[in-house]
Amino acid sequence: MKVLAIYGSPRKEGNTAKMLDAALSEFPKEAEIRRAYLGELNFSGCGPCRECKTKGFCVIEDDMQKIFKDMIWAEIIIFGSPSHFSDVSVDIKKLMERTWWMKGSLRNKIGGYVVTGRRYMESTLNTLHAFMLRHRMILGGSGALGFTFSEMGGLEYDPLAIRDAHYTGIRLIELYELIYER
Ligand SMILES: Cc1cc2nc3c(=O)[nH]c(=O)nc-3n(C[C@H](O)[C@H](O)[C@H](O)COP(=O)(O)O)c2cc1C
Repeated sequence: MKVLAIYGSPRKEGNTAKMLDAALSEFPKEAEIRRAYLGELNFSGCGPCRECKTKGFCVIEDDMQKIFKDMIWAEIIIFGSPSHFSDVSVDIKKLMERTWWMKGSLRNKIGGYVVTGRRYMESTLNTLHAFMLRHRMILGGSGALGFTFSEMGGLEYDPLAIRDAHYTGIRLIELYELIYER
């Protein structure tokens, strides 16, 4: 079981990371888990070149090249995003843009997410759903939302947040078993 967890908040130990870690804690010991902390990486969004149209791959040489390899390697990809101005974080959005060339490469990979925020989180979910559907991924998880009532921390005031993050891990494993172990 190959799992890639994409941490989309610049805060490495923030609310989103806590929820992602809770989801990951459900995976069995033998699962291979790779973690990408986007806030530690140096990468841009999509540029003006359109070279992927002719070359079939992204020519921008930055840290996203490693993430591309991990995404292709993974069987399960879990995104963690805070809601920033009613959408995914800028790092998650840059990553999404950069996968434009990957048409077909993510097909049938199992995808899930955890999202945190206080309000206006609908567009964050919409962006994640659209990304996975456009890539023909299999949308899994439990729709885990963490309502963070204060700007820093606050996850502890939402008793469903960590529980639902665990449910996301459990559901992704269930889908994996359905697909790979039958
Ligand atoms: C730049 C910025 C924009 C934000 N915009 C929203 C927003 O539109 N909706 C929302 O519910 N929370 C918003 N928040 C709050 C964060 O989503 C929330 O605190 C989140 O849990 C932070 O996750 P983290 O601890 O993993 O960084 C914003 C925070 C920042 C820093």
